This record gives sequence, C-alpha cells and structure tokens, in this order.
Amino acid sequence: MIKKIITHILFINALIVLVVVLFLQYAVKPEIPQSVFSFYIIALVVGLILFVTSTTKNMQEFWAPIKTLLTNERLFILRWLVMLSIPAVIAVFAGFSLLPSNQAPLVLRVIHPAPPGEINFGGKTINLRIAVNPYREYETADPEKFAEHVELGRKVYYENCHYCHGDFLDGKGPFATALDPKPANFQDVGTIAQLQETYVFWRVAKGGPGLPNESMPWQTAMPAWEGILSENDIWDVTLFLYKATNHPPRTWE
Ligand code: HEC
Repeated sequence: MIKKIITHILFINALIVLVVVLFLQYAVKPEIPQSVFSFYIIALVVGLILFVTSTTKNMQEFWAPIKTLLTNERLFILRWLVMLSIPAVIAVFAGFSLLPSNQAPLVLRVIHPAPPGEINFGGKTINLRIAVNPYREYETADPEKFAEHVELGRKVYYENCHYCHGDFLDGKGPFATALDPKPANFQDVGTIAQLQETYVFWRVAKGGPGLPNESMPWQTAMPAWEGILSENDIWDVTLFLYKATNHPPRTWE
C-alpha cells in the first residue's frame, strides 16, 4: 500500500513541487525575489503538466485517485473534508494578508523632481530654463565683487538657514534631529553639486510647499522664502552655498 502511494505519479509530482519550493525558499542564497520565485514555480508546474499529459497511461494514473475521491461512496467524509479544507486554507491566507502591519508604506520620495519651466516670484515670471545667477559672471570678471556677494549670501545663510542645514552646511543644524526628511546636507555630492543654480533658486523660493506631488507624502520642513528673502538674497545665498562647499554648480551640458 505504502509503496503504491509513494511511487504514484500524483505523489511524486507533489513531492517535486514541495522540494523545489523549499529549496528556492531556504537553500538559495542570496534570496531570490518573489517575482523570479513565482516564475520558476510556474515553469516547473507547466513542465509537470506536460509530463503528466504526455501519455494516456500517465493521465489515467494521475486522475484515478482524484476520481475515486470524488465518486466513491465510502470516501464520503474524506471528500467533504478535502472540499471544505480548500476554501478554509484560502480564507486563512487571505485573513493573514489583511492583518495590519507596522511596516512603513513603500512610497519612495522623489528627492529631486523635475522643476517647473517657469515660476512666479513676487509678481515677476522667472524662466528657470534660461535664467542665470546674475552674480555668477563676477567669479571670473570681478573677483572682488564676487566675494562681496558671497559675503552677503553668508549673512543670509547664518540668519535663516543654519538652524536646519547646520553651521557647516552638513544638514546637522539644531532643528535637524526633529525633521523627517532631514535637511539637505550641502557638503554631500548628492544635493546642490548635482543641481543647477536655477534649481536651487526654485527650491529656496518655493520650499517644501512648492514641490510636486511625487515628492510627498512626507511634508518637508523646508520653508518657502519668497516674501521673506528678496530675489537678490536668494541668488547671493546660492553663490554662498556653492562657494562654501567648494562644489561648482551644475550647468546645462
Ligand atoms: C526649518 C528647517 C529648514 C530651514 C530653516 C531651511 N531649510 Fe532648506 N531644507 C530643509 C529640509 C528638511 C530639506 C530637505 C527636504 C526638501 O528637499 O524639501 C531642505 C532642502 C533644501 C534644498 C534642496 C536641496 C536638494 O538637494 O534638493 C535647498 C537648496 C535648501 N534647502 C536651501 C535652504 C536655504 C538657502 C535656506 C535658508 C534661506 C534653507 N534651506 C532653510 C529644511 C530647512
């Protein structure tokens, strides 16, 4: 009897599936992604179906116990148990998948969304694609004047920005610990070094409220400085950010 069961095609197929599932789940390192896992299992099942249906003898052997279970009067109780256990198993899995979880929702914040083409600053339209920092040209043409504007920018920074962005522009100001997302660390190459000056101008002028939806759901604490700082102040502080961190601003390649 036992020998008949363990050599039966239905049993062997079920065993193959079980062994492969356990192998892929626990023996393969590093873990394979769920999508690849599903793909392997589907390929395996298709292969087994091809094998079972390849000969009439295999087919008959495969279906025989299932037919017996469904039609034999003496297996009445077993039949009902199997029939009820199928929806029961599905119900248990569905129930568990609906349990609340304490994992953070998988939403990725876009840190550097595409900026708008133009912005309105205090009633004036600034086209971000063609605007330039009006003081940048002094860097080569008039270094003394350039240094003056960097100085003005330094003042703007230490009066308004260092609380969050830090004395050393490293994002570690006294308010930073309370904030999520953290204030940008301008020393890091992942922030202003990657951005054009007009982008920085837009972010300073419009702040967190000016970000498009893909940069939510966490509201950033970055204030909108339009109405507090003048256009010149923002160009000055932008000069200062690049000068103090020694990053050249990104330009249109
Ligand atoms: C209340 C805290 C706070 C203050 C004050 C503040 N910021 Fe921010 N700032 C943030 C936070 C938080 C972020 C990161 C989230 C984001 O991009 O909005 C940020 C981001 C930025 C960015 C975007 C950097 C990037 O890589 O996209 C720039 C530029 C910036 N701040 C400049 C300034 C300047 C200039 C000032 C002062 C005029 C200032 N910030 C004042 C909190 C602050």
